[in-house]
Amino acid sequence: MAATLLARGGGAAARALTFGCLRQLHTVYQTVELPETHQMLCQTCRDFAEKELVPIAAQLDKEHRFPAEQVKKMGALGLLAMDVPEEYEGAGLDYLAYSIAVEEISRGCASTGVIMSVNNSLYLGPILKFGSEEQKHQWIAPFTSGDKIGCFALSEPGNGSDAGAASTVARLDGNEWVLNGTKAWITNAWDASAVVVFATTDKSQKHKGISAFLVPMPTPGLSLGKKEDKLGIRASSTANLIFEDCRIPKANLLGQQGMGFKIAMQTLDSGRIGIASQALGIAQAALDCAVDYAEKRLAFGSPISKLQAIQFKLADMALALEGARLLTWRAAMLKDNGKPYTKEAAMAKLAASEAATAISHQALQILGGMGYVTEMPAERHYRDARITEIYEGTSEIQRLVIAGQLLKEYRG
Ligand code: CAA
Repeated sequence: MAATLLARGGGAAARALTFGCLRQLHTVYQTVELPETHQMLCQTCRDFAEKELVPIAAQLDKEHRFPAEQVKKMGALGLLAMDVPEEYEGAGLDYLAYSIAVEEISRGCASTGVIMSVNNSLYLGPILKFGSEEQKHQWIAPFTSGDKIGCFALSEPGNGSDAGAASTVARLDGNEWVLNGTKAWITNAWDASAVVVFATTDKSQKHKGISAFLVPMPTPGLSLGKKEDKLGIRASSTANLIFEDCRIPKANLLGQQGMGFKIAMQTLDSGRIGIASQALGIAQAALDCAVDYAEKRLAFGSPISKLQAIQFKLADMALALEGARLLTWRAAMLKDNGKPYTKEAAMAKLAASEAATAISHQALQILGGMGYVTEMPAERHYRDARITEIYEGTSEIQRLVIAGQLLKEYRG
């Protein structure tokens, strides 16, 4: 197909539009005037993504390759433990900074964005909030530098949205917990050195019988399922975790026994800000690509950006993106200010993931045939965007959370 487009005359310009010469929009600074520290962080992350991720993102995707070297460099920049206080070797920043950083990293490579988001929000987040002092020192510090990363195991083959139906069992045997069951869809699974696992310690108590545990990887009794062959975010690994009489010390219980469901829900409230930010990065990259192409591609004697049909698409894309970014930053700032943010995080994730899907769809349409081939990043953005409407709570779950909170507020 690419050869046909070249023969038609538009291809030469189109082929020159490699990532290397793509001009980016500077939307982050236009959305809201950020504090100077956050502007500097944004620029640092953008420079890092341009230099370290953009040139290899397509190859990582093609080869399903974990970006080990880049993750280490991100650790050195403080990007893997952003809101972790310095006493545990984190960067000591806030969630607004985290959101901006995840967006910029995901703009360069969405797989790297989710690797970062899972380590920050889903692995370190619950340990920081619910861990004992001893657990924080043991399980946080080694996971801040990029040498080790963590993962989070809540879903199971038989339950995803219904997180309270966990069938993985943890039984106390003397001074050890014994875990049995299978966890599914675990991001970072193949590359992780520890996992926060949710298992039931009392099935009769339903969600109130779920507890959270810290498990080192590898460890006897824990094996990895096959690496899932995914539509997008292919440089991050996803797999089942299979527990067969997996023994861990009694001290590896995170929080109180029976608190697991609340730990999972509160962790996901923060995680959804991370995934919203990842979706923003994918959407911004797709919009950048579409604007650049529309300015350079000629049809009917002028750039297609002169056509109203294209301008209407670009306007709707920018509108959806900036609205979603404001929602995401609002959720992050509520968290930073210690205010409730369950509803706002769900709104941010819903708006940003649906925007990413719609924007990457329209960007591909603007690029036409060039959007459909792997020489341009548009097809990867389109594939990468789709997962943001599924993991850490589907769009349908976000709507349930929003409506549930709304009705709770009304009923007082
Ligand atoms: N914060 C604190 N507590 C919360 C809470 C929150 N955000 N949400 C619910 N709870 C509490 C409730 O107050 C209630 O407490 P009590 O029992 O004391 O009354 C309890 O939890 C049960 O609440 P619900 O009755 O609302 O629970 P539910 O069973 O109806 O489920 C749900 C609610 C919103 C559907 C929830 O199950 C959910 O979020 N499901 C989606 C799960 C999800 O996002 N999974 C993704 C896994 S991670 C992943 O994607 C993989 C990866 O590696 C990236």
